[in-house]
Amino acid sequence: MFQLSAEAKQQVLNELKRYESKESAVLPALYIGQRENKGFINAEVIKALSSVMEIPESHINEVFTFYTMYNKTPIGKYHVQVCRTLSCMLNGAKELTAHLCKELNVKLNDVSGDGRFTVSEAECLGSCGTAPMMQINDKYYENLTPESAMNLLRGMK
Ligand code: FES
Repeated sequence: MFQLSAEAKQQVLNELKRYESKESAVLPALYIGQRENKGFINAEVIKALSSVMEIPESHINEVFTFYTMYNKTPIGKYHVQVCRTLSCMLNGAKELTAHLCKELNVKLNDVSGDGRFTVSEAECLGSCGTAPMMQINDKYYENLTPESAMNLLRGMK
């Protein structure tokens, strides 16, 4: 059964102190829960957050299911999110995503056989002037070509 570590629990409590209403702390709390649970959120994570925050699970679940930046299934060590919105799409995001999936031998949103990579699509990541771009875990990589993106990923293997 999933439990928040003492450190994560304290981080959630700290987030609660930052806001006037408990509900306002749900977004950062979900991020903490996701990090604690190896990159994804399930019912047990929501239950644990609900217990610490004293907020109904249903409310946390509503927030969780609304936003796409929370993962609903396990992800690889490197979460490769290719932006698929207008600027990136016009500059080759679709081909970039297809190339990465082919080279890494992984389907979109699945975990590669070695557990290292998940490739998914994301909505605009706010770096439209350097399209196409992708985010790997917390870092941005911009002005990509399929080859340059794959070279980056090879360095992470
Ligand atoms: S359209 Fe890709 S970062 Fe905005």
